[in-house]
Amino acid sequence: MLRHAPRIAQIEPFHVMRILEEARRMEAAGREVIHLEVGEPDFPTPPLIIEAGMRALAEGKTFYTGAAGLPALREAIAGFYQSRFGLDIDPARIIVTPGASGALQLILALLVGRDDEVLLTDPGYPCNRHLVSLLEGKPVNIPVDADSRFQLTPAHIEQYCTPKTVAALVASPANPTGTVLEPAEIAALAAACRQRGSALIVDEIYQGLVYDRPHETALAVADDIFVVNSFSKFFQMTGWRLGWLVAPPEHIPALEKLAQNLFLAAPTPAQHAALAAFHPDTLALLELRRQTLDQRRQCLAARLTELGFILPASSQGAFYLWADVSAFTRDAADLAERLLREQGVAVTPGLDFGTDDRRHQYLRFAYTKDIAIINKSCELIATMLANYRSAPIP
Ligand SMILES: Cc1ncc(COP(=O)(O)O)c(C=O)c1O
Repeated sequence: MLRHAPRIAQIEPFHVMRILEEARRMEAAGREVIHLEVGEPDFPTPPLIIEAGMRALAEGKTFYTGAAGLPALREAIAGFYQSRFGLDIDPARIIVTPGASGALQLILALLVGRDDEVLLTDPGYPCNRHLVSLLEGKPVNIPVDADSRFQLTPAHIEQYCTPKTVAALVASPANPTGTVLEPAEIAALAAACRQRGSALIVDEIYQGLVYDRPHETALAVADDIFVVNSFSKFFQMTGWRLGWLVAPPEHIPALEKLAQNLFLAAPTPAQHAALAAFHPDTLALLELRRQTLDQRRQCLAARLTELGFILPASSQGAFYLWADVSAFTRDAADLAERLLREQGVAVTPGLDFGTDDRRHQYLRFAYTKDIAIINKSCELIATMLANYRSAPIP
C-alpha cells in the first residue's frame, strides 16, 4: 500500500456525502427523498447558454484556450461589471477558471506559503480551509456569530492577524448562512487588511442571488482586492465548471503562470456557452428565477420558524438557511440522519461548515426546490419533531 502525503489527513470529507449516499440508497429502494441538502437549485441551465454550448461543440471549438480564458469572455465579464455596476474593469485583470473552485485555488496558491495563515469564518465554506491546508498553510477559523451576521469584521482582523497572516477570505452572500456584507463593511475589511499587509479575498459566487437589496460587488469599494465569481450559481451552470477571478493587475502574470500549470485552461465549450450568459434574454430569465428563489426563501423561513427552528440571521442571499436546532437536540447530525431515514428529507448537518462545538447545533437548508415541495418537506419535518417526543434526539 502506497503511503499518502501527511496533508491528506487534514482534509475532511463532506459529511453531507453520507446523507447523499443514504438518500441514493433509499431512492434506489423506491423511497421518495426531498433534497434540501445540495448547493444547487433545480433550474436547468438557461436555453441560450445551452444552445451556445452545443453550437461551440458542433463547430469543433474543443481545443484549449489561453490559460486566462477566451478574450471574448473576459471582455464580456468586464462588460457585465460595466452594465450592472457601472465599473470599468480591465479585461486583462480577469482570469477565467474552472469554477470558483479554480479561482480560489489560484489565489491561495499565489499567496499561501508553508505556515502562512489565512483568516476564515467559522462557519464557512469548508473547501477553503482544506485548500489552505493543502498548501501547508494554516487556516485560522474565526468563530463568528449572529452579532456580525456570521461575517468577519475589522475587529476580527485586528484580533487574529499575526505577522504570518497573508489573507482574509470572506464570502458575500455567504455559504452556509446566506448573509451579505454591506459595501461599507467590505471597505472597512479591505482597509484593515491593507494596513496589515494582508490580502482581502471576497468570494462573490452567489452574486446576483440577493433578496430585498441591490446587486453589489466588492470591486465598487476596493480595487486592491481579489474577487472570486462563478457561472455556477446565479447563471445556473454548476456542471459546466466555469468561474473567474478579478485580481490587481500586478498579480496577473503570476496567476496566469499558475493557471497554465494547475489546469491549462477552463473548459472551452463551457467558455463559449457562457458568452450567452449576459444576453438580455438570459438575464431576464435569471431575474425571474431569482424572484422564485426569494418566494421559496420566505416560505421556508416562515415554516421553519413556526416549527421552532431558530434562524439567527436572515438569509439575505444565496439559497441557504442556517438553522439553530438547539430547541430539539444537541446533535444536529443525528437529527439530519433521522430526518432522512424517517421522513425522507435530506438536509446538510452543520458539521460540514464549522470546526468548533457549535457545528453540532446547526443544519443548513437549501431552498432549491419548488414551494410545494418545500411545504411538503416542512410537514414531514413537523411529523418527525412530533415523533421525537417518544424517542428523543440526544
Ligand atoms: C462559497 C462557495 N465558494 C465556492 C464554491 C465553488 O463553486 P464552483 O466551483 O462550482 O464555482 C462554492 C460551491 O458551493 C461555494 O459555496
